[in-house]
Amino acid sequence: MVQPKTLLISFLFLSLLVFIESKHDNHEVKEEEEEIVLKRSMFPNDFIFGVATSAYQVEGAYLEDGKGLSNWDVFTHVPGNTEGGENGDVADDHYHRYMEDIDKLEYLGVNAYRLSISWSRILPRGRFGDVNPKGVLFYNNIIDNMLLKGIEPFVTMHHFDIPQELEDRYGGWLDPQMQEDFVHFAKICFEKFGDRVKKWITINEPNIYTMFAFMEGTYPPMRCSIPFGNCSAGNSDLEPLIAAHNMLISHAKAVKLYRQQFQPTQGGSVGLAVNAFHFEPYTDDEFSYQAVERSYAFNFAWLFDPLIHGDYPPLMRKYVGNDLPKFSKQEKKLLKGSVDFLGVNHYTTFYAIDCLNSDECTLTENRPVKGFVGITSTRNGILIGDETGIPVFHVVSYGMEKLLNNLSIRYPNTSIYITENGYSPPNYKEGSEMLQDFKRIEYHKAYLVAVAKAMRKGAKVEGYFAWSFMDNYEWGQGYKVTFGLYYVDRNTMKRTPRLSARWYKDFIANTEKSSTY
Ligand SMILES: *[C@@H]1O[C@H](CO)[C@@H](O)[C@H](O)[C@H]1NC(C)=O
Ligand SMILES: *[C@@H]1O[C@H](CO)[C@@H](O)[C@H](O)[C@H]1NC(C)=O
Ligand SMILES: *[C@@H]1O[C@H](CO)[C@@H](O)[C@H](O)[C@H]1NC(C)=O
Repeated sequence: MVQPKTLLISFLFLSLLVFIESKHDNHEVKEEEEEIVLKRSMFPNDFIFGVATSAYQVEGAYLEDGKGLSNWDVFTHVPGNTEGGENGDVADDHYHRYMEDIDKLEYLGVNAYRLSISWSRILPRGRFGDVNPKGVLFYNNIIDNMLLKGIEPFVTMHHFDIPQELEDRYGGWLDPQMQEDFVHFAKICFEKFGDRVKKWITINEPNIYTMFAFMEGTYPPMRCSIPFGNCSAGNSDLEPLIAAHNMLISHAKAVKLYRQQFQPTQGGSVGLAVNAFHFEPYTDDEFSYQAVERSYAFNFAWLFDPLIHGDYPPLMRKYVGNDLPKFSKQEKKLLKGSVDFLGVNHYTTFYAIDCLNSDECTLTENRPVKGFVGITSTRNGILIGDETGIPVFHVVSYGMEKLLNNLSIRYPNTSIYITENGYSPPNYKEGSEMLQDFKRIEYHKAYLVAVAKAMRKGAKVEGYFAWSFMDNYEWGQGYKVTFGLYYVDRNTMKRTPRLSARWYKDFIANTEKSSTY
């Protein structure tokens, strides 16, 4: 175990080295390879620096004040479904501690906070029942108190949790009826909160959600088919595509409603958040470069292309054919240009392996729905980056820069918010040992430098949200995957700022002393 002091000295030493190198060696070094030390001044004054959470992961109070059951409440209560049987019944008890938490946001000095609304807290039975006034009151309290401290709400409407009733009635996102339910929910949100909420994210990560819920069957409603998994029902090749299709159309209909009925008076903007990875070619040949192209298409362009250009990426159509649902002419019109900004959740980079001409792929990778791309984090026995608490996530900060530059080529002049970016340590440890989180600081610094470099090359990035404000319920993986700038004691619920929280505060305030971290 390296003592913090030793680490501190070596960090100091390292940054000195970088400084000396860049002073004397600047003629040979190309701009891309130059070591850059992160500074607040690399970002515009009005740049958004925030932190993010989502409702189910932090709120708890799963049965309080008239809230209906969500799909996650039901799913996590079935033995065997989640790591250690853990659930979000209490989570971080944010429902009762939000005032304390807003004080902590103020301490951090963030100018924005990304939260999500629990659909079943507002509409316990979806459109088949009434609005729950106590649910509305809870979010009003949060929003009002944030605004009092000068913190802008970025509100996600749907972040993985839906009222269970919609699942029971018609199978949730697999059914087009969901479009009507989503628009109903969105309308309530605009009506109740839109006078104060000016940044909306309709849906979080349709690509990740549909993969786990309908391809691998590890999130509710646990549907899949062999060889992806052995669920009691489902079709892993088709259903993720159908569910995402319904999500996209739901988004577009909600945005149409917003633009017609609310935007003229409320003046806000709407986006959708996608989990976007970067991919590097596994080998230095044309097949691998094509695999990277397909990875981009099947990972984020699947969703961003329709929102910007009005239809799925041609590469997806080419490989998935008629299994990929089609938009009607009217739907295309509705979708095209239906976002004011792209929400980008970015964590890591993979190597992309071409499965069309290689036998290095698994059975599941070698399918049309995966674009015939295999992914790996290892090449020639060497990991692509340092390990994290999510086994397939590694620290690859240059991936952020390349991703953002590629996004701005594909979607020119489109505003981007990094709606999630963060680090969890590979080995969970209880208690104070976890407070000295140098690796998390290093991660955020390196990724922020990558954002700044991409912006210098023209990426229109307007904000950055660290995932996460505090440790929380990491879905099926429970509480031992910790992304928080704040450590949350599971027994007492006490929140303690990690070193990274102090660093982020100092960085945002531009009072960072380089020797401190
Ligand atoms: C799938 O699960 C069923 C029921 O648990 C079992 O009978 C069957 O052998 C499993 N199939 C495979 C291929 O694992
Ligand atoms: C886009 O991604 C590819 C594939 O990794 C990479 O080679 C390229 O440099 C990226 N483009 C930009 C402009 O960063
Ligand atoms: C880019 O977008 C802004 C507003 O979103 C607009 O004012 C500007 O004209 C656009 N620039 C180009 C080159 O399209």
